[in-house]
Amino acid sequence: MGRRRAAIVGAGHTRFGALAEGPRALLRTAISGAFASVDKGLAPSDVREAYVGTLGFSGWQLGNVSAVVAEEAGLVSAPVTRVENACASAGFALRDAVRAIESDATDVALVVGLEKMTDPTPTRRRYWLGVSGDTEWERLAGLTFAGVYALLASRHQHEYGTSREALAEVAVKNHAHAVANPNAQFRKPVTVEQVLASPRVADPLRLLDCCPVSDGAVALVLAGEDRARAYTDTPVYVAATGAGSDYLAVQERPSLTSLAATRWAAEEAFRRSGLERRQISFAEVHDCFTIAELLALEDLGFAAPGEAAALTHSGATRLGGAFPVNPDGGLKAKGHPIGATGASQAYEVFQQLRQAAGARQVRGAERALTHNVGGSGASATVTIFSVA
Ligand code: COA
Repeated sequence: MGRRRAAIVGAGHTRFGALAEGPRALLRTAISGAFASVDKGLAPSDVREAYVGTLGFSGWQLGNVSAVVAEEAGLVSAPVTRVENACASAGFALRDAVRAIESDATDVALVVGLEKMTDPTPTRRRYWLGVSGDTEWERLAGLTFAGVYALLASRHQHEYGTSREALAEVAVKNHAHAVANPNAQFRKPVTVEQVLASPRVADPLRLLDCCPVSDGAVALVLAGEDRARAYTDTPVYVAATGAGSDYLAVQERPSLTSLAATRWAAEEAFRRSGLERRQISFAEVHDCFTIAELLALEDLGFAAPGEAAALTHSGATRLGGAFPVNPDGGLKAKGHPIGATGASQAYEVFQQLRQAAGARQVRGAERALTHNVGGSGASATVTIFSVA
């Protein structure tokens, strides 16, 4: 007998952006939204396990975030575990919940992702963005987080001739997608010319190549496939997850044009799911900087090394194209509240595979992949979802 699959049966999402609400209020909105979205109803006491992904940006927010999740979700006795894996915190929290269900340890689990990033001063913000990278050598050398990705972009340009315009096209596409996402931080289209004229952050990356600093929370309710239809007639199944880790500092890695953690996570997820790349309808990838989307498409196996720019230029990754990427606007335009992002990607898949994504619907979507990266590639998760 095969393993029991997990399925998403409900999901809640706050707006992303610079929000007035504190972390507890964000959690409350996301969790109550997830519970209310369960078509046939869910009692808090049904949830027997919960995982919360958060970096804990700025150090002060909700020291014991697990206890606050338990309170806000009305969990009386169920355990809550905090998962920290930099920008991939919620991707790893989701993976833990899936494995708890697959192993029969629990029937219903809650996954929450949270970050509140806009409160600290810009100096403290830069410090906290850096903690997800190597704080000994990279930081000593004066590298910012954007600076690390700028190195990856420069090397990709050097090895493959990737043009500055090719990076800009990723931002243009994702900003266009976010226009149709009511939760997105930036709902305004941008042009290649605007990207190229935006202020330089870390050469060759400019302001419009970067994800923003964001607040937000997301919650998902998962159930075992034998229980899922008691909650909804349209569950979204997790076909498989994969994960990998790599060196923290980029100087330790043999290549700057490929993230091995992504490759390993993808290999595991595809092997465990038994699916092929061509069977995936669309993907939500970790585009914290425009170069990151190109690296993701190559490392996930959707483009050959050095070919993601041409794939993007062809229009295939746009909504309406053969293989849409980041239909919700991605980290670039939807926003990137660090610990919430992995859950937000799954939220989008839940809407899309139920054909409930409105103006940004990927027509006929049946299977999707999410890809969540921690640090500059120190870790990654890949999850594959299916309607049946
Ligand atoms: N994309 C588009 N517009 C952006 C933006 C972004 N990433 N970041 C800021 N803006 C806009 C703001 O809305 C604001 O517009 P307005 O003047 O019309 O109100 C303007 O640019 C200035 O915003 P501000 O917040 O002062 O920018 P900043 O210079 O402090 O920060 C970055 C800009 C790019 C440095 C910052 O967003 C950043 O560090 N991003 C990367 C975050 C990161 O590394 N996350 C982890 C990655 S895994």
